[in-house]
Amino acid sequence: MSEMKSIAVVGGGQMGSGIAQLAAMHGCDAWLLDTDPSALTRANKSITHSIQRLVSKGQLTQAVGKDALGRLRYTSNLQELSSADVIIEAIVESEDVKKKLFIELDKITKSSAILASNTSSISITRLASATSRPKQVIGMHFMNPPPIMKLVEIVRGADTSDETFNATKALAERFGKTVICSRDYAGFVVNRILMPMINEAFFTLYTGVATKEDIDVGMKLGTNHPMGPLELADFIGLDVCLSIMKVLHAGLGDSKYAPCPLLVQYVDAGRLGRKRGIGVYDYCQMPDAVKP
Ligand code: NAI
Repeated sequence: MSEMKSIAVVGGGQMGSGIAQLAAMHGCDAWLLDTDPSALTRANKSITHSIQRLVSKGQLTQAVGKDALGRLRYTSNLQELSSADVIIEAIVESEDVKKKLFIELDKITKSSAILASNTSSISITRLASATSRPKQVIGMHFMNPPPIMKLVEIVRGADTSDETFNATKALAERFGKTVICSRDYAGFVVNRILMPMINEAFFTLYTGVATKEDIDVGMKLGTNHPMGPLELADFIGLDVCLSIMKVLHAGLGDSKYAPCPLLVQYVDAGRLGRKRGIGVYDYCQMPDAVKP
């Protein structure tokens, strides 16, 4: 498989915009597609801001920053992705919605294209089964935020070929990432371990064991984590955390993965975390200096 030069990212939220930025910064032509035009406007703004910050901190040269911004194209038209070498899906964490997209991508992309998913937990084998090219479907799970975090977890579906795996690994390494490989079981490696911890933090809050602040300080100073679990949940998005817990619960069949009722209630209330200005913490009420 030749080097992948044109990358299309579907889903322009916090992950998709970061992945498109990363691809453009590493010399790829990058499309970013979202069905919601306002998401594309937000993505354009946040990518431009992020690149300018990297340049001002000396982590990116002005020339590379300018080149990266010129390599990005924003669209809501799926047909425009037809010539991409790899499509990285980063839409909402719902198996039905992702499957529908994979069926469409399978129809409109060139037959050699790799279809990758940034899913946090959903079965790659089942997404692959919705397409006519299961050998070319793979999980490429970036961490948040993609331009900064060093890891990509690559997930092989039951039929993913060695060629697809090697090309995807080479792409992640070209982006400067360290790769780990996971088999295709619910939550893969990172979220299989991380999400039950976050869910347990919600239970700790729900059952009144401690305040949210003490839970976060406890885990930060007690276990040397850079962020407390509730703070991290707000950063990831409480809707994303809940979706992952549901996948773990259904896929691994153990009641220990049942989502905490408080997490469910926050999502029902639209308290989705930082992206909505309120989650476990209320970011609108806080002066910037004390925001967690
Ligand atoms: P987000 O909610 O910030 O963005 C999702 C975007 O997808 C929205 O802009 C929405 O308009 C768009 N979208 C929804 N359906 C679409 C469709 N059919 N076609 C095109 N665009 C569509 O979500 P986020 O956090 O970026 O997560 C995206 C994916 O990445 C999920 O699968 C999630 O599990 C995964 N992920 C999330 C991480 C996180 O920390 N938030 C970390 C690693 C993976």
